[in-house]
Amino acid sequence: MIHVAEDHQDSQEEFTVTPWTVKGTIDYDKLIEKFGTTKISQSILKKFQKLTGEIHPFLRRGIFYSHRDLDWILERYQAGEEFFLYTGRGPTGNVHLGHLIPWIFTKYLQDKFNAELYFQYTDDERFLYSDSSTLEETHTTAYDNLLDLIALGFDPKKTFAFLDTDYMRTLYPIAAKISKHITLSTAKSIFGFENSTNLGLIFFPTLEAVPCFLPSVLKGKNIPCLIPAAIDQDPYWRGIAREVAPKLGFYKPAQIHCKFMPGLGQGGKMSASEPDTAIFTTDPPKVVERKVMNSFTGGRKTVEEQRRLGAQADICPIYHYYYFLFEQNDSELGKIYDDCTSGRLLCGDCKHLLASRVVEYVERHQEKREKAKELVDEFVVQDVKGGLRKKSES
Ligand code: TRP
Repeated sequence: MIHVAEDHQDSQEEFTVTPWTVKGTIDYDKLIEKFGTTKISQSILKKFQKLTGEIHPFLRRGIFYSHRDLDWILERYQAGEEFFLYTGRGPTGNVHLGHLIPWIFTKYLQDKFNAELYFQYTDDERFLYSDSSTLEETHTTAYDNLLDLIALGFDPKKTFAFLDTDYMRTLYPIAAKISKHITLSTAKSIFGFENSTNLGLIFFPTLEAVPCFLPSVLKGKNIPCLIPAAIDQDPYWRGIAREVAPKLGFYKPAQIHCKFMPGLGQGGKMSASEPDTAIFTTDPPKVVERKVMNSFTGGRKTVEEQRRLGAQADICPIYHYYYFLFEQNDSELGKIYDDCTSGRLLCGDCKHLLASRVVEYVERHQEKREKAKELVDEFVVQDVKGGLRKKSES
């Protein structure tokens, strides 16, 4: 049996989830209601089992938990119609483990469904939103972040990465067509724009919608799109892409939404703005180890108390890390949970074990990240006619 790692405390607490702000203790079921998405059902899990021969731990464990039209896209696939994947990254700074979750799953989907991936770096968005980053900085950061994507092992023949500001000739005609169907009052109600919001940010959502249709436009035929992403990105699909798709003659893009990996502090998602509680892919091993060892835990005040009462795995980031990424085997995970909550396992030992696994993961990632520097031209598409040619091919 797997214990679903969810923080049940403070469910009355206020929380905010928008594309630009995620705060508080998130009630994920409430988000489903609020956004009007659908919980991933047992029958969808069965469909995955049938099509791929297994159910990925992220699905089994409810880390990817919500969707739109996932049943539809799997049915079409079963009937012989291929789909493509679309996801992206706002290049604000270094990539942390929380960012990797949707990308790891995207890579898995690419392998299992032999699907193309279109990956957008929104250097424009992050410049427009930020008070401090220059456009030159977000542009440079995007190229650095690209190494993390390549390091995950995506197939260069099936992966097309681009930065908004470098790929605008290809993106803009589609953006213009989308934008014509979205009024300012719609944009205000979806994204909370105000009179003080700059014009760039008001136009930006059309650009995030573009890749949903890009392969259909470039290849001249309608191709279903599946977006694996954290649930905070949903307004772009709900408010823009799915609204305009029928008007422009495209399929509505399907989505599969994940939860956020927590930070190592008490509550809250992993966040680059709290660097001590986030593990960056570029952190030296010593730093990774220190961060894990300094983590908040669900432990008791004294060893005696912990032996007697057991610790609280459900509120413990260390347990969540095993749950998300560092213990794929369900019965081993169940054992950690039982040993923790029964008081057999003490937090120091539990943190040591996790630290060694995280260090190993990050070290391996860093080796691949180094090699990725040679591969950039095999992933980035050029902004020339046709839109899909890479530098390595010219
Ligand atoms: N807006 C996202 C961010 O700030 C980046 C992004 C662009 C994205 N296109 C996407 C994320 C598609 C998920 C899916 O991180």
